[in-house]
Amino acid sequence: MHFTTVVTPPQGKPTGRLDVVKAAAVARLTQEDWQKTRDKMLATCGQCHSRNFARAELEKGDQMIRETDRLMAEAIRTVAKSKVWLEIVYLVIPTLNDRMDLIREMAKWVRGEAGEHVPVHFSRFNPMYLVKNLPPTPLSTLESARRTALEEGLRFVYVGNVPGHGGESTYCPGCGGVAVGRVGYSVESVRIKKGKCEKCGTPIPGIWA
Ligand code: HEC
Repeated sequence: MHFTTVVTPPQGKPTGRLDVVKAAAVARLTQEDWQKTRDKMLATCGQCHSRNFARAELEKGDQMIRETDRLMAEAIRTVAKSKVWLEIVYLVIPTLNDRMDLIREMAKWVRGEAGEHVPVHFSRFNPMYLVKNLPPTPLSTLESARRTALEEGLRFVYVGNVPGHGGESTYCPGCGGVAVGRVGYSVESVRIKKGKCEKCGTPIPGIWA
């Protein structure tokens, strides 16, 4: 399946095709949908293997994924406690990890475990290489993710992979002004002096030149 025009790139507006992708249950959106997909897979494996063998093998896979998540969480905690600068990038992939309730949970977790000042970047996914069957992330999804994380108290939340988007810039949590203006990878303006907002004096954590 190829959905190359699900989103019109300059405006990032989803066309009807995103609904088509969702309707095709490309991903497991809820526990119920997940169970349905799992049962279908078990039935397939069961054509050649015993059900118990297939179930145990699939559970091993689940366990591996859980273990990977646990290791990632541990890595984030370790770096957050150290003096190493930590930023988190969340690649938002339509239907796979774009549920706002999960993004909210993630933001809460980051705030609690790593701190409100840890920057989180919600990056736009683009279909390529092995995942060409999903559309680019709609801008509205990235913007909702950013809003949700800010609501949960994270101070520095960005929209990534969308050159020219306002969400690339750093905003002062004190006065809301642009502290570092960015377009793509270029810095357009810096209004930080000695680690503080030039306008209102609020500290802006970071390693500033
Ligand atoms: C069309 C029949 C068929 C289907 C469907 C199938 N398998 Fe297999 N599977 C085999 C065969 C035959 C082997 C043995 C291959 C070999 O030993 O070279 C095998 C081997 C395996 C092995 C390795 C076992 C070992 O001890 O080395 C695992 C694990 C496995 N299958 C899991 C699954 C799972 C999980 C599914 C469902 C997602 C599945 N298989 C679906 C036929 C099938």
